[in-house]
Amino acid sequence: MAIKAPTVNISGLGTDPLEERIKTKQEKWKYKIAVLSGKGGVGKSTVAVNLAAALAKMGNHVGVLDADIHGPNVAKMLGVDKAEVLAERMEDGRFEMIPPMNDFLGQITPIKVMSMGFLVSEDQPVIWRGPLVTKAIKQLLGDVKWGELDFMIIDFPPGTGDEILTVVQTVKLDAAIVVTTPQEVALLDTGKAVNMMKEMEVPYVAVIENMSYLICPYCGNEIDVFGKGGGKKLAEKEGVEFLGGIPIDLKAREASDAGIPIVLYGDTVAAKAFMELAGKLVEKLEELKAKEEAKEPES
Ligand SMILES: Nc1ncnc2c1ncn2[C@@H]1O[C@H](COP(=O)(O)OP(=O)(O)O)[C@@H](O)[C@H]1O
Ligand SMILES: [Mg+2]
Repeated sequence: MAIKAPTVNISGLGTDPLEERIKTKQEKWKYKIAVLSGKGGVGKSTVAVNLAAALAKMGNHVGVLDADIHGPNVAKMLGVDKAEVLAERMEDGRFEMIPPMNDFLGQITPIKVMSMGFLVSEDQPVIWRGPLVTKAIKQLLGDVKWGELDFMIIDFPPGTGDEILTVVQTVKLDAAIVVTTPQEVALLDTGKAVNMMKEMEVPYVAVIENMSYLICPYCGNEIDVFGKGGGKKLAEKEGVEFLGGIPIDLKAREASDAGIPIVLYGDTVAAKAFMELAGKLVEKLEELKAKEEAKEPES
């Protein structure tokens, strides 16, 4: 005889207070965007911080969560790696961390940044596995004073592991940006990342091709270092949108090492490309939101 499981229903039982807090907090984040890829070193973090800076430059309130627990570098790329994280005692006695901010000397709306990089020193490896990584991500979402945000951008480590699963299960993502480079090898893995986002029913999935081409510093012509059009082909094959390409810009690496996103160097080709991408993304998200809101009264 099969034994039936008891069906006692006590309200509040079994709910995780941290998950409840993430639920409440994200109501104040208008658009939640994941930046991911199949591979490392394709420029996810570069894309995440530059999109953040472009959106902030347009006057938006932006938060960036570095979900790369093992290799956090967003804080450095946004020039706040030396900042101290303060905590505030909440009414219920808990402490919440206050994300360090950068307004690039008053030039743009401040960007709030939270990263594991603030909590462990640079040369100390984080040797955590699954459950601890999951807990850390949840705390970076739910135990931080994020406040009202127009955009919450989440930068992931390469692949489709615990970090992305945790976020997809706790945050209602509006968009996933999959970053790739043009060459074929990168594309196989990128296809997996795109498919995961489709399976997780993220409403808007788009591909950005980074290091699309190099502008020759001598003649100004475009050089296709890694081939051409891979990102676009991938987007077409998977039936998702191709948001655009970013050139290789030698200044982009220097800029990110210096903690100033390249998009703030307005005269560079990469900056123009990032501003254009950010503009397209906002347009698309607003279009989708309007459609969703138009549908809501009927249901
Ligand atoms: N468009 C670009 N032009 C020049 N350098 C780039 C560009 N995109 C990324 N980089 C450099 O490549 C390296 C890897 O980028 P990163 O964003 O850390 O990749 P990921 O987060 O995917 O591992 C960094 O040193 C970064 O500055
Ligand atoms: Mg990265």
